[in-house]
Parts: sequence; C-alpha cells; structure tokens
Amino acid sequence: MQRTYASETKKKVGQQVRLLGWVNIRRDHGKLVFLDLRDKSGIVQLVVNPKVSAEAHKTASETRNEYVIEVEGKVNPRSENNINSDLETGKVEIEVTKLAIINTSKPMPFDITSDTRSVNEETRLKYRYLDLRNPRMRKNLQLRHKVINFIRNYLTDDGFTEVQTPVLTKSTPEGARDYLVPSRIYPGKFFALPQSPQQYKQLLMVAGLEKYYQIAPCFRDEDARADRSPGEFYQLDLEMSFVTQADILQLIEQMYSRLVETLLPEKKISQKPWLRISYQEAKEKYGNDKPDLRQDKNNPNELAFCWVVDFPLFTAQTEEDFFHGSGNSIWAPSHHMFTSPHPDDIPLLDKDPGKVRGLQHDLVLNGVEIGGGSIRIHDPKVQEKIFDLIGFSKEQKSQFAHMLEAFEYGVPPHGGIAPGVDRFVRILAGEEKIAEVIAFPLSGNVRDPMMGSPSEVSEKQLKELHLKLDLPKKKK
Ligand code: AMO
Repeated sequence: MQRTYASETKKKVGQQVRLLGWVNIRRDHGKLVFLDLRDKSGIVQLVVNPKVSAEAHKTASETRNEYVIEVEGKVNPRSENNINSDLETGKVEIEVTKLAIINTSKPMPFDITSDTRSVNEETRLKYRYLDLRNPRMRKNLQLRHKVINFIRNYLTDDGFTEVQTPVLTKSTPEGARDYLVPSRIYPGKFFALPQSPQQYKQLLMVAGLEKYYQIAPCFRDEDARADRSPGEFYQLDLEMSFVTQADILQLIEQMYSRLVETLLPEKKISQKPWLRISYQEAKEKYGNDKPDLRQDKNNPNELAFCWVVDFPLFTAQTEEDFFHGSGNSIWAPSHHMFTSPHPDDIPLLDKDPGKVRGLQHDLVLNGVEIGGGSIRIHDPKVQEKIFDLIGFSKEQKSQFAHMLEAFEYGVPPHGGIAPGVDRFVRILAGEEKIAEVIAFPLSGNVRDPMMGSPSEVSEKQLKELHLKLDLPKKKK
C-alpha cells in the first residue's frame, strides 16, 4: 500500500491507509493504547484496540516514545467530544489493524515535544538532530526553505543568474576577523573564507553578468550575539549593473513585500511604500540608525520595514573596528571601501572627508539591520583615493590590485545589497535568536557540541601543512 502522510489523513475518512513515522507520545490506557504518530507533515492519533488486532495491541504495548513504526489502519472520524482542535488532524484518528516496530530508541535526553528553547544550549546542540524533531524547529526550517525558494524563483523570473563564488579565497575587507585555511601546496600561505562575496560580485559585473545573486555562505570570526552568528551565516547577495540606488531599493521592496504577502498572509507590513530616511534624520528622530517603526511592538504579526540612506562615507577609525587600516589615517569606511561617495560630495573628499555622504543603503526591519549595500565606485582613480584616505599602505593597496586592474577594462556602473537570510527568517518566524532558524548553528562559545568541532588534528596533518603549534600555557 502507498504511504499516506499524517496530515493527509484528514481527507481520507473511511479509507485504509499506511503510515510511517515516529511515536511522538504514547498513552497506555490498558485496554486501548493511543500513539501519536509524527512524520514530516505533522501528527495523527492512532488507536490500538485489542479487539481490532490483538497482535498490534501487543506490539503497541512494547513501543516507547520516538520508536520508528509502520502502521496500517482505517481513518475514522472522531466523536464530537473527542475532537482535538489543537491538532491539524484533530477530527480523525486511525484504527490500527497492523503495527510494526521498525526501530527502537533510547529515552530522549530532553523533552522534544514541548518548547525546547528552555533546554540548556549545550544539550540542545549536542543532540540537535533530536531538537530538530520538535515541530517548531521543523516549521522554522521549512519557512527558511520557502523564503529562499521564493527569492530564487522571483530573481530567476527577473533575469538574475545565481553564481557560486569560491569559499577558499583571499581575505575580504568587511572589517571582521577572517577564518584562515592553510595551504598544503604553498607552505606558509593561507586561504581565507569569504566574509562576503563582495569582490567577486563586483568582478561578475566587470564580466558583464549585469544581474547576479547568490544565497551565499559568509564567514566572520566574531563574538556571538542573538542576531549575530559567530561563524557562518547566509546572505542573499545581489549585484546589478547600470542601476541607481532607487532601483536596488525598489527591487528588494517589491520582492520582500510579495514574499510576505505570499508566504505569510497573516503578517501585516505597517507602511507601504517603506519609509526612506536619512542617517542624520534617523539619529535625530529615533536616536539610532535602525529605527523600530512598529506601531505596536507587542504585535507579533507587524513588520515595519524601512530604508536608511545618506550615511557618512567615513567614520572615525579605531584599530578595533577597522583593523585592515594601517592606522595612518583617521578614516574608516562606514560600510566598506567599495562604496561610492555621493557624486555631489566628491569635491569634499580632499577638503572635508567627514562630510562626504556615501551611496549606502541599510535595510531595517522592526529595529534590526537586516541588510546593507551600496552603489560602488567604478572609477579606479576614486577607488585609489578612498584607499589613500583610509590609510592603506602600498602593500595593502597591492592586495586589491586585481580590483583596480579589472576596473581598467570597461567596468559598468554597478551596485547591490546583501540582506542577511538568518536575520530575516528569524523575524518572520517570530524567534528571538537566529540560531532558532539555523539547522546546525555554533554555540555561543563558538563550538559545535554535536560534531565536537573545532577539534585537534593529527601530527601528520600539521606536518603536511608545515604548521607548528605554539599554544598558550594551560592555567593550573
Ligand atoms: P554587511 O557586512 O552589512 O554587508 O552584511 C549584510 C548583512 O548580513 C547580515 N550579517 C549577519 N548575519 C548573521 N550573523 C552575522 N555575523 C552577520 N553579519 C552580517 C546582516 C547584514 O545586514 N558585502 C556587503 C553587502 C553589500 O555591500 O552588498 C556586506 O556583507 O543582515
């Protein structure tokens, strides 16, 4: 018999079905055994009555929570007072005629059927595959999939090409620490994992792609926060040629509005078109550059998007917030060093750099920065000027020689944005932490308790990489 999913049973009253899944909860009432069967679609109640099948009843009394079972039976409507309105399939139950245990399970290390957010992080992540059995977690992963799928379809229909850019690359200047990968073939040299595909996407514009996007993994060695992954996270990375800033904002505004209307019709976007506010005005009016414009902050279905524009091109540099700088200058880019100055402010670059506005745009949702981007510099002379202003030495400049060189070969004006996937889905899912919408996140102390990573490697591996460890002495 073909398999039926739990959620499909509600449409099959009176029919014989075959189900496969896990015992979510088992209740033994002596004569009758009730098993909630869970599969990827949801939960349905099974009733095992010895009068219907003595054999199935015997097997049912041997099952425990999280056993994997195969079951056959008839879909019956429930009597009026047995209807469970909390369950999608609450109007039906399966009268079991056959039951087999496919696999047994040890008792769960924590209760996976209720809200697991209160469980200790280390335990949850050590047994993440069990945590992910929780319906809330599965729903979050399914929502993430739907969001990414919607974006892919939308941008494909709009003439974009998705391109995978290298993960083994060179240090990118986004301002965080790099994750480094030693090269075996070139002793003493390292790849860096990309903090974002920023340089590649600009080079794809030089290549003439015109409309690029990628659901891109990004790697930054940062401290963990509720909204910041300490290792890797994902961006919808996007770049276009021959566009204005307004074109980029409009594309994202239309796509995200349509996405919300299609996938989450219960959510309400507070204001359309989205507010566009200057950095200066946001600071004056709301005291920060990511204003929370929700009318009612207790309403989980309200989405208040806004754009913040006209950022200063530079902020005062500190070694910490921009360690790529040489320390020879007081200026660090507010966004990154490829952001174009406002054309009206180019003369100020020499006179008063602090007053120059950048063509940067931040996307803010409910008081959280969920994306950032800019129109880029496409004039190699202006690019060099920016490198000078941020105090790059000759050597540091030479690290970007490939960009300056590429810009000598007919580079189109271009710009883009990179909204974070994790932060956006986190807000749509109504979660407090991005780890709730990531299948296998690192812990707050930057470890994976399940895989046991990071881990030591063998002497042989170190030798091949020409690496010798100089570890800090262990405190006694
Ligand atoms: P930026 O560094 O502003 O821009 O990052 C863009 C967006 O990525 C998300 N994000 C993160 N999400 C989770 N954990 C993190 N550690 C983390 N860091 C960043 C945020 C943020 O708004 N290359 C440019 C984009 C461009 O100019 O087109 C860039 O990476 O949602």
